[in-house]
Amino acid sequence: MHASGLIIRTFSSPESAARALARDISRCLEANPRLVLGLPTGRTPIPLYRQLAQWCQDGVVDFSQATTFNLDEFAGQRSGARYREFMQRHLFDAVNLDRRRIHFLNGRAKNVALECERYERQIRRAGGIDILMLGLGTNGHIGFNEPAAELHARSHRTPLSLSTRRANAQLFGGRASLVPTHALSMGIGTILRARRIVLLATGRSKAAAVRRLVEGPVTPRVPASFLQLHPAVEVWVDRAAGARLSALAK
Ligand code: GLP
Repeated sequence: MHASGLIIRTFSSPESAARALARDISRCLEANPRLVLGLPTGRTPIPLYRQLAQWCQDGVVDFSQATTFNLDEFAGQRSGARYREFMQRHLFDAVNLDRRRIHFLNGRAKNVALECERYERQIRRAGGIDILMLGLGTNGHIGFNEPAAELHARSHRTPLSLSTRRANAQLFGGRASLVPTHALSMGIGTILRARRIVLLATGRSKAAAVRRLVEGPVTPRVPASFLQLHPAVEVWVDRAAGARLSALAK
């Protein structure tokens, strides 16, 4: 365990981290088939989803009674389901999740406040999130909780920074200008209520953010640093993403 109280696990490659996390999730599903999972989008979890999809098709993993809540979604009529489509393509189409137990913030909702309240209520009714998986933005964001002077505790609508829009350009034909300016996201408090949190970060571009998350002060300028306040957070990194952690360098 790191001095921050976070548990750090280092892997030799993004693939080995993804495989280990897929194994962990499948064991948890075996122990509790009604597991409630929180899911991220982004490039980082793709190998994890690929592995879970494969094992589900092989009959090794069973999602039939599980529930999922995705972290965030773009806002707007045109792109308000882009992350849902991503999840469909990378996981949902390939696993036996019951559609009624897949939950998403609706980015097309007219009344955002009501939509966010609805989402928080659904999470509560499901009994809360057992395992929430997170990615990490290079600027230290989690979900779409961007660095700011103040953070939101609960699900909310938020403006996106230019760097985050650029990082998401791939989903919009490579054009950052087509990435919506706003998104809906679970809040920091929603995230911190999950019983267990596993943040997965791979690649050199995440090394500085990983260091600030683990070793920096808790500050809304690095939303991921709030994870230091939670009693059960694991930070799973490959060597490149963990390279700047002083505890691991020794
Ligand atoms: C996106 C998502 C986050 C994700 C992060 C990292 O903006 N909203 O939930 O964790 O960026 O993405 P990637 O894994 O592609 O680096």
